[in-house]
Order: sequence, then structure tokens, then C-alpha cells
Amino acid sequence: MTEDILSFDDYDERHSPAPPITDFDNVVASAMSRRDFTKGVVAFGIGALGVAGSARPQLALGAEDRFGFSAVAANTADTITLPDGFDWDVLVSWGDPLWSDSPDFDHVSRGTSASQSRAFGDNNDGMAVFSKAGRVVLAVNNEYTNRQIIWGNRPQGQATTDDDIAKGMMAHGISIFEIQPSSAGWTVVKDSDLNRRITPRSEMLISGPAAGSELLRTRADGDGRSSFGTWNNCGNGETPWGTYLTCEENFNGYFSSSDPNLGRPNAMIRYGINIEDWGYGWAKIDDRFDVAKEPNEPNRAGYVVEIDPFDPEAKPKKRSALGRFKHENADVVLAADGRVVVYMGDDERGEFLYRFVSEGRYTVGADNSNLLDNGTLFVAKFADDLTGRWIPLTPETTGMTSDEIAVYTRMAGSAVGATTMDRPEWVASNPHKAESYVALTNNKNRGLKPNAGGDPTPVGGPNPREVNVYGQIVRWRPRNADHGSDEFAWDLFALAGNPKVHSDLNAGSNNIDASNMFNSPDGIMFDTQGLLWIQTDGNYSNEGDFAGHGNNQMLVGDPLTGEIRRFLVGPNEAEITGISWTPDRRTMFVGIQHPGERGNSHFPEGGESVPRSAIISVRRTDGNVIG
Ligand code: FEO
Ligand code: CA
Ligand code: CA
Ligand code: CA
Repeated sequence: MTEDILSFDDYDERHSPAPPITDFDNVVASAMSRRDFTKGVVAFGIGALGVAGSARPQLALGAEDRFGFSAVAANTADTITLPDGFDWDVLVSWGDPLWSDSPDFDHVSRGTSASQSRAFGDNNDGMAVFSKAGRVVLAVNNEYTNRQIIWGNRPQGQATTDDDIAKGMMAHGISIFEIQPSSAGWTVVKDSDLNRRITPRSEMLISGPAAGSELLRTRADGDGRSSFGTWNNCGNGETPWGTYLTCEENFNGYFSSSDPNLGRPNAMIRYGINIEDWGYGWAKIDDRFDVAKEPNEPNRAGYVVEIDPFDPEAKPKKRSALGRFKHENADVVLAADGRVVVYMGDDERGEFLYRFVSEGRYTVGADNSNLLDNGTLFVAKFADDLTGRWIPLTPETTGMTSDEIAVYTRMAGSAVGATTMDRPEWVASNPHKAESYVALTNNKNRGLKPNAGGDPTPVGGPNPREVNVYGQIVRWRPRNADHGSDEFAWDLFALAGNPKVHSDLNAGSNNIDASNMFNSPDGIMFDTQGLLWIQTDGNYSNEGDFAGHGNNQMLVGDPLTGEIRRFLVGPNEAEITGISWTPDRRTMFVGIQHPGERGNSHFPEGGESVPRSAIISVRRTDGNVIG
């Protein structure tokens, strides 16, 4: 495996290895709960989940099928596979111009920094549709680039000019553009006054407890209150007041040090800031990515950023009250009293699950614009008895100042003994009841190695498998059906696995069978019916532990029955990530990220074309609603 195709997590582990100790005592102590858990998994769906007398609904196996489609088979075709009665089309692909003054994507040069800054970014991830006064916009994260693809016109896929590096930079960030329906389906409105690219060079504000902190001050920003862009934008969220939340994930991989002997403080190590970057080369064209020159610049990334999708002039705001970590997505719900609750995962092996609760309350029609600046951040602590608590991260509980908690959030979580998780990806909340789900994608270190802060990763509770290669989906219900409550009950919705290869816990929970097996759940989102759409970013070798899983895919789960059915299979070497619907719910947008990341796809155009990340639109051939 070359470094080009290492995951960010693998890269961090190679360059900032966690302490080589294993907390053997914890592993042994959890063995009992693991056995208990095995029983729980076998008896999936039976038992009381409620904490306030709310009995868990009985499994309604054989009840009405709410899916409305027949399962598709796993496969390794370099295309999109959908059930009978559904069609797909490409809405937009990497490099498609958003303005008519910019050229169409060039398969030979793969663009320039100038063309890229006026075009749809690369590696689309989280996205959301917004509508207002009859106009519809789509806001999309462009998470990162694959060097072998974006620089595939250069020797060894390496940047040879500063403009190559800048082109890569401009392929990051957010693309916002108007869309409209036509007889041929939804299309991008070129030149709309709402179209906008937000890049790692766009000016934005920093708000919340870290704003103005010494930890954020740099030569370019002596006040620590403004920032110059966002990158590695992974999952997303949307607020009830109509703004888009974009989540900065693997922000660390862009920093390097011109001093190879630079001493790195613990906070840099915990966040994976290394002497070498991931290969993007940004420090070669911009000193702020050189931590020997700007040691505080990394402290200005790793946040949730709030954007008004209908005001291209409004500066995005980095909301430091929501903490700094490898933010996956931001799932927004309301507490019973109207306070805003945001659930968030930190996607790294052994990191934590968080909840923010605002101080103020959401009121329809009022000024809600700064609700995400004041409130309390909490971290999840799960007990093996299927209960859990949200532990507040405050100066009293952590011994840290409020700006330190906002900037070094991982260390605050460690200070209160948060539960180390199997890489929390997206959180999704059921629109019909107080119940939330988190995709824990996998964790090959579970039970073997501590996290980057030295916290043990014992087997047990919501992370029941040692060397977890398949992942699981955990759900919880807050006490009194109130997302503002500090207590919850939890269980597993699904333990992914391979029942064709294994007969132990690696077979998965009993709602996984040969027809719907998958690995590495990642993007999850509820539709209006209360069905859970599950997207995967996993091992697509289709061999060994993963035999029969095929390419990455999208499935639908029914929380009422536990049933899971495969809806879509993606092209080769792609991840399925990002999902949203048009206002009429007749078109669903689905993200296809990094097809051909190892050189074996020509999606979506086929032939000898350059593979391009793309958003596809999916419709029923009968035109009915799709979720
Ligand atoms: Fe960008 Fe954790 O996925
Ligand atoms: Ca993801
Ligand atoms: Ca992932
Ligand atoms: Ca990805």
C-alpha cells in the first residue's frame, strides 16, 4: 500500500503513533460485559430499551413492508445499481463550471486553479437542499482531493507547479449553487446570483468561547477572531433557522513543518499535526500551513462552520462552542424546552461522541443567528448496562479554561473519562421520536491500542468487538424523550458483519444476512417516513472478511422492525456519502465520492475518461415520492 491510498486514520497512526500500551485490566474487566453483550446481540430486538417507562416497540417482523423497493444484489460493476422502478442521472461532477465564464472540465489538464475556483469542487460529501421564496439551492461539501486523480496529468501524480497545488486547494471547501427542475430532471443553474464557492482562502469569522483567545492568534490575525477558509469539510447539518453547517474533519493533514526537528506539544500530537503533510503541499504556497512559522494556525481549524446558503455576501462563522475535533457531521434537534441540541462525532479511532446544548431557545421568526455561540458541550459516557450519560465539559469538570475546552476538546473529553468509540461518523435523529443513531464505522485497534491521548479502548458496551473491521450502528433514547436530558438508554441497531464467513460476533446482528451484508457504515440520514438511509465507506475488495459485500452501497433500515435492505450499489473504488432531497421529495441526491481512488474506475462518463466524484439524482420511474 502506498501512502497515496492510506486512509487519513492510517496516515495519522503511522506518523503519530499512539502510546504502545494496552490497558489489559480494562480488556479483562470488559470480558464479562462482552459475554452479556453477545447475548444481547443474539436476542436483538428483545428487551426493554426505555428509561422512563417507555417500552421499546416489539419487533414487527412480517409487518407491512415500508421500503417500497426490492433489494439489489451486491456487485462490483463500475456503475450505479438501483432497484427496478428507479432511474439515476448525474447532477454535477467535479470540475463542472458553476459560471459560464469558466471552461468545461478538461480531461487532459484536469483544470487550473482559476478554472477550479469557478467550478464544482472535488470529493463531494455532506450536502443539503434549501428552499426560499421559490428558489432552491444545494450546498455541498467538497472534502478533499485524490492526488493521483487531480494531478494524474503529472508524473507520479505529483504537483509540479505552484498552480497545481493551488488547484488542489481550490477543489476543497463548499460549493453552493441554485438548481431547478426541468423535463429532464433537476439541473444546475449556471450564473445564478446565489452560486458561490467557499474555499480554504475564503474569509470567515471565528465565534464562541475560542474567539479572541491567544490560542488562535497568528501574524495574519492578531485578534484571533477571523480565519481564512475551511477545508476537509466532511458531513453536514442544517439548522431550523435555515443555515448550513459544514464540518471540518481531517484538517490536520494539510499542515507541515519546515523545521524537521520541531518539538510538538501534546495538543499537536493529539490532533495529528505532523512534520509532514498528507501530500497536498499547501505550506509550499502559503506559510500559514507551516507550523514552524504559525504554530497556532492548526487551532483555527477543526470546527463546525455555519453558512447562510441564501446570502453569498455573509461571512461563514466557525462556531467554536461546538468544539474542535475531527468533526464528522452535526445533527441538530430541539430539546423539549426549545434549546438547540447538536450531536457530533469525532471520527478517529478511540475518539468520542459529543452533544452541544444551547443556552438560548429557538423561537420561530426570532433572531436565532447566534444560538450556536453560547451553551454547554457534553461528551458521552456509555455503561455496559445499556444506559449512558452526557458529561458536561466545563472548567469545573475538566480543570481547563473555556477557550481551552473549545480548542483542545479531545483533551477535555479525556479528562472526564469519556467512552472511546469505534470512529463515530454521522449521527441521525428520528423525526418521529426522540431517538438518535450514530454510525461507528470500524476500529481495527479496538481492544488492542489506546487512542492518540492514551485512553484505553476496552472491548464492551457500544464497541463490543475486538479488532472491529465491520462497524456498527448504535442508537440511544434520551430520558423522558427529551434531547435536553443528560441520561439516555442505548442499544445496537445493527452490528455489521459477514454471516457467510463468520459464525461468531463477526457474523453481525441477526438483522444482517447474506442478502444485505455491508461493512463500515458512515453517512446516515432519516427520511420523512422515519426510515434510516445508510451509506458505506468500507472495504470493497469483495474478498476474505468482505467476500460478498461488493462495492460500497446504500441501504435502508426500518427502526420499527430492525429490517435492513440494500437500495443502491456504487461504482468501483467509490464511497457513497451525502444525501438530500428536493422540496417535493420526488428526487433524492446521493453523493458518489472518489470513484477510482486506486485507478480502476471511469465513473461517471465511462470509456477512458477521468473518474470524477459526482452527485447523482435518483427518481422513481413513476414519479412518486422517494422518501
Ligand atoms: Fe469524512 Fe469520517 O468521514
Ligand atoms: Ca464520512
Ligand atoms: Ca468513513
Ligand atoms: Ca470519504
